[in-house]
Amino acid sequence: MSKVREKISAPATARNRDPILEVLKAELPRRGTVLEIASGSGEHAIYFTGALAPLIWQPTDPDPACRNSIQGWWWDVQLNNILPPLDLNVCDEPWPVETTPPIEPITSIVCINMIHIAPWKACEGLMKGAGRILPRNGILYLYGPYKQKGEHTAPGNEAFNRSLKERNPEWGVRNLEDVIAEAGKNGLTLVRTVEMPANNLSVIFRKS
Ligand SMILES: C[S@@+](CC[C@H](N)C(=O)[O-])C[C@H]1O[C@@H](n2cnc3c(N)ncnc32)[C@H](O)[C@@H]1O
Repeated sequence: MSKVREKISAPATARNRDPILEVLKAELPRRGTVLEIASGSGEHAIYFTGALAPLIWQPTDPDPACRNSIQGWWWDVQLNNILPPLDLNVCDEPWPVETTPPIEPITSIVCINMIHIAPWKACEGLMKGAGRILPRNGILYLYGPYKQKGEHTAPGNEAFNRSLKERNPEWGVRNLEDVIAEAGKNGLTLVRTVEMPANNLSVIFRKS
């Protein structure tokens, strides 16, 4: 098997992809390119691309193993509305899509399960980049566990937070109000939150 086909399987994606897809169908613009931040294995990218055509999907991840995996999953399905994965670290400026934009303009950004598994500066970088890149009325979609008013919303999330901090003290379940404030600094207004299975939230912002 060639290196570009080393697929990673993340079992959680099979559990959360349908509930997430329902929200994406309701919230994403119908046209343009969706920039996915932190695509990980690429399983979400392949699943959502198939269901959301004619939207174009641009997967990204800073981890080369993840980009190999995304290519591997793509190889199996050969969809024509998904672009090759880009090396994108949200903390870098500019993002590669700013220097070489996709042919179809970016109308939304999707970021699933990243801001709690990265230092806070990744949330800051994500919001800054979304503020720079999204057009007026563009959508930023986030998915993951959140604290609300400083409190965990379920014992499972509290235990998850402890395990994250054991792996890296800079990681951790974020406070929703802090994320909303960071978005606001970059011209992004909260549209709504949607409660998701397993004590997760979809959080949808619009660029003003
Ligand atoms: C838990 S995985 C989530 C992957 C996928 N979105 C999912 O839900 O299965 C977290 C991902 O965030 C990526 N990541 C971590 N720090 C990042 C950063 N600064 N910029 C962009 N991606 C980052 C990692 O490479 C990893 O693929």
